[in-house]
Amino acid sequence: MMIEHLLKTAVRDIVDFPKPGIIFKDITPILKDPSLCDAILDAFMIRLQDLSIDVVAGIESRGFLFGLMLANKLGVPFVPIRKQGKLPAQTIQQSYALEYGYATMEIHADAFEPGSRVLIHDDLLATGGTVAAASELVKKLKGTIAGYCFIISLDFLNGKEQLLPYSEQLISLIGY
Ligand code: PRP
Ligand code: MG
Repeated sequence: MMIEHLLKTAVRDIVDFPKPGIIFKDITPILKDPSLCDAILDAFMIRLQDLSIDVVAGIESRGFLFGLMLANKLGVPFVPIRKQGKLPAQTIQQSYALEYGYATMEIHADAFEPGSRVLIHDDLLATGGTVAAASELVKKLKGTIAGYCFIISLDFLNGKEQLLPYSEQLISLIGY
């Protein structure tokens, strides 16, 4: 309850960004508050304690912010899932639908060993398209999805429905 209240106070609504009609959830005020960042990590750690995680995969770019910190806290490797053309070594790809057109995400082909239990992290769950593509990448590398963790979920967009086929372990600290 405490963390929910602190987060809802910190997250800023930016009206009409990145385009008219969208209310953007801005997490940058959280990043300016070290004790709130710590509280987020502690809240994730409590909720993740039964998941047995081998690797944390964070999604570019805002999923990198807490993804690496969480992996460090868990004492496991962090792997980046990036937008096309950014990762230097051999990659595999997954395309996904955007509102208009397509985007592609990539992961290094040697990101983790087959059979690894992978926690997928992003800052925010909206339609679920991004994290579903990330899930396909993990599956292509023969990983098991241990679960998902987000700071924010936009529950009215039903992104959860896209993720349930991969894992029922879905953690989000606040919902709207
Ligand atoms: C936002 C957010 C998630 C994604 C969620 O990222 O950080 O990654 O959208 O949307 P979805 O559930 O509908 O797929 P964005 O594309 O704005 O990029 P950024 O993280 O690099 O800022
Ligand atoms: Mg993002």
